[in-house]
Amino acid sequence: MNPKELNTYTAKTVAGLEETLKSELDELGAQNTQVLKRAVTFLGDKKLLYRANYSCRTALRILRPVLTFSLVKQEDLYQNMLDFPWENYLDAGKTLAVDAVNSTSVFTNTQYISLKTKDAIVDRFREKTGSRPSVSLDNPDLRINVHIYKESCTVSLDSSGPSLHKRGYRKNQGIAPLSEVLAAGLVILSGWDKKSLFYDPMCGSGTILIEAAMAAKAIPAGYFRDDFGFMKWVDYDADLWSSVKDQADSGIIRNSVPIIGSDISSRVIENAKENLSFANLLDDITIKKTSFEDADAPVAPGTIVCNPPYDERLQLDDIIGFYKTIGDVLKKKYKGYQAWFISSDLKALKFIGLHPSKKIILYNGPLECRFVKFEMY
Ligand SMILES: C[S@@+](CC[C@H](N)C(=O)[O-])C[C@H]1O[C@@H](n2cnc3c(N)ncnc32)[C@H](O)[C@@H]1O
Repeated sequence: MNPKELNTYTAKTVAGLEETLKSELDELGAQNTQVLKRAVTFLGDKKLLYRANYSCRTALRILRPVLTFSLVKQEDLYQNMLDFPWENYLDAGKTLAVDAVNSTSVFTNTQYISLKTKDAIVDRFREKTGSRPSVSLDNPDLRINVHIYKESCTVSLDSSGPSLHKRGYRKNQGIAPLSEVLAAGLVILSGWDKKSLFYDPMCGSGTILIEAAMAAKAIPAGYFRDDFGFMKWVDYDADLWSSVKDQADSGIIRNSVPIIGSDISSRVIENAKENLSFANLLDDITIKKTSFEDADAPVAPGTIVCNPPYDERLQLDDIIGFYKTIGDVLKKKYKGYQAWFISSDLKALKFIGLHPSKKIILYNGPLECRFVKFEMY
């Protein structure tokens, strides 16, 4: 990488996947990767930025910080935004959106931060050019991220646009679908070798299965997306993007790894099939309607990664009975398996009645979960 072309970037992720994302970035050749809370900072050039957006399975978005200032009173926000040369990044005829994250008492409302930022940018353009950019919340030309922490405000350009968990393959969602980024993280954390049997016995819309298949076939995480924020940046290099995409796509492997899913609900299985069909993975993933209790265990050895129900839809008694059954079925049918389960119901997890050899704290949205591993000898 040419040192003159290096920028600092911040890749955001979900809590618990920071180290996983760091490894992904290290593998892509990112320099000086550092783990923060729900984020990893790194140094890289434009090519690396494009590669990270396209290939990182556990990144939610990749930000390019352009301005940091001290913020002790509300006026500091407007003034610093007004003084910043936004015309270097945006034309007056284009659109913008501002996302804000705040953990201070200077502001109580993140929408107000977005509004004040937008006002300052618009006022600057009006003063300088007589015309002004407008706001587009859904499809802006420039998405700006304002992060206020302690007495410091960092302003970044969002190179991803729509969050990277929006892979583009999930046309149907189940009742409680996992985020694609979390599902990819589970597959990576499970240590599955991407060759042996992989099974999700409560597969819902198929997210874990699809992420497993994409990992095994080296299909880039962004393969089904057409849109990244950097494509509308003033310095967008279409040839560079095209070569990054071609290079990553040329690594896709034609293989046949046994990836299997099942679910008790026929409606859910139909939805999952549509998602597999869209992702062109119907030949790579076998799914069928059956309960975990009744399913025939595929021949061991294998890795199970499963996201069983754990919410208010089941009464506590049912949950405990259900998790006890999971444990009984594992003991009876799944010798030779490594079985991973993610749940926010820590009490119910204990009723599986097996001693976990690993426990990882992860967040499914706001829910604190445990991702536990049972080695079935
Ligand atoms: C939390 S959802 C899984 C969501 C999935 N990971 C996704 O991303 O769409 C739990 C799934 O377990 C299924 N399920 C509930 N009880 C089951 C059982 N006894 N056997 C198999 N599947 C079951 C439900 O139909 C539901 O689809």
